[in-house]
Parts: sequence; structure tokens; C-alpha cells
Amino acid sequence: MAVDADARLSTGNPKLDKMLGGGFIRGRTYLVTGETGVGKTILSLQFLLNGLTHNETCVYVTIDERIEGVLRGAESLGWNFWAYMETGRFIPLELRLYAAEARKYGKESRAFVDAIFNATRGRRFTRLVLDPVSALAQGAKDEFYVREYLREIITMIEERFGVTTLMTTDIPTGSKRMSRFMLEEFLASGVIVLGVRQLGGTLVRTIYVRKMRWSSMDSTMYVFNIEPERGIVIGEPFDEFIKNRNLSAVPGTGVV
Ligand SMILES: Nc1ncnc2c1ncn2[C@@H]1O[C@H](COP(=O)(O)OP(=O)(O)O)[C@@H](O)[C@H]1O
Ligand SMILES: [Mg+2]
Repeated sequence: MAVDADARLSTGNPKLDKMLGGGFIRGRTYLVTGETGVGKTILSLQFLLNGLTHNETCVYVTIDERIEGVLRGAESLGWNFWAYMETGRFIPLELRLYAAEARKYGKESRAFVDAIFNATRGRRFTRLVLDPVSALAQGAKDEFYVREYLREIITMIEERFGVTTLMTTDIPTGSKRMSRFMLEEFLASGVIVLGVRQLGGTLVRTIYVRKMRWSSMDSTMYVFNIEPERGIVIGEPFDEFIKNRNLSAVPGTGVV
């Protein structure tokens, strides 16, 4: 099924938009996955910043960090979210799930979604980031409940807000898993995988699109840098990068 350009929303990164076949499809949920420190938060802030500069109202939910820390990190890239906060179009939120309450997931997921609704005072918003949903499991004894909780949150968000959602998930270092619960990728309409490798003494960041429902996509793995103002800057395909620098992607030089 083809989706026309109007139905697409820019990620804030023209090259990533191309890789996704034209950007995110509006109203859907996407996943950014990778180990700690690969750039998931930066990618999601770049997505929100794109909306903010186009006069949209955007919500950022942090699950494991204080919002001040995240916004200060953004400042180090030259991104001033405080200004948008003052205008009321950038709405940051800290939401958590306490392990003891995980069993009441039915009620709790509604509370989670209600908290977003209340923070926006029912106003229309276009972009939502949940960063990182993997932190919802912190301390939970039974992951089954966390999974159900997450499933309910995503379903409710899609039904209630019709917003384009970007969720991030941490995967354990060295893991071959796609996500923390192996559920996030099924809930998402598309998956972007970030990585970092040590190659020939150089830190190489990689990005590729793993899945994109209802769309064509470019699944090539590219290298990227993180730069002030521009955020994630995608470069050449990983294979070419290796060839051009006479590096070899031998076993043991995989994900750090
Ligand atoms: N101002 C900056 N300039 C360049 N790189 C930065 C800057 N701020 C953070 N980074 C890089 O971004 C990475 C963290 O990105 P982040 O999005 O927080 O990762 P994640 O959310 O996946 O844990 C760090 O590894 C750091 O190298
Ligand atoms: Mg992060």
C-alpha cells in the first residue's frame, strides 16, 4: 500500500526520511533501538525539534532521566528547548511505573495516558516521544505485566491522540536482541537501529532501518556522526566507509 507524501512526517533528518521511504507515516508508532549512548535520545529530540520549528506542539516523556538533564544535554548541541517550553508548545513530562504497581497494568496504563492528556490540557499535539520505554521494566519481577502495560499504552495512545509516536528502547550491551522486551518491535510500524563499533581505533556510529510497514525502505547500514546544531548527520554506507579506509569488519570488532 502506497502512502502519499502528505501522510508523512519528517524525522528532522532528510537522509533518514529517505531511508524510511519519505519519513514517518503520521499517526503511527516507531521504535529507535540500540545500546546506551548510541544517540537514541538525540535522534528523538531532533524529531521533536523539527515539529517545533514548524509550529507544532510536541510532547517528550522521559522515563529514566530528569528532564533538566535531558534539556541541558540538548543545549550542548545548541538546541534550546526551554524557549519552546515557554511558548507552551514543547511539553516535557517525567513519567514512571513503579514495580509494585505493574500488576495493575490495566489501570496504570490509563493513568499513564491520562497524564499525557492532562499535561497537554487536551490540546492537539502532533509528535510524542517516550524515552526509553525499556525503563518501564525497572525493578519489575514479572515482565509479563510490563509487556501488557506497554502494549496497552501504545494502543491507547494511537486510539486517543492519533499522534506520531517515537519510542526508544535500550538493549543490553552486546545483545543480539532488537529490543528490551522483544515486543516493542512488533508494536512499532518501523524500527531504526543505532549502533556503535570500535574499528581500527575509531569509534564508528551506525544506523539502519530494520522494518518499515506500508512503505518502501532503504535497509542499507550507514555511518553517522553527532554534530552541534545538526544532531545526527548520516554519511556513507558502512561497507563503503570500511572499504575507503582499509578497515575490515572482522569478528571481534562488533558492537562495543
Ligand atoms: N554536544 C555533543 N556533541 C557531540 N556528541 C554528543 C554531544 N552530546 C552528546 N553527544 C554524544 O551522544 C551520545 C549520547 O547520545 P544519547 O542520545 O543520549 O544516547 P542514548 O539515548 O542512546 O543513550 C554520547 O555518546 C555522546 O558521545
Ligand atoms: Mg537516552
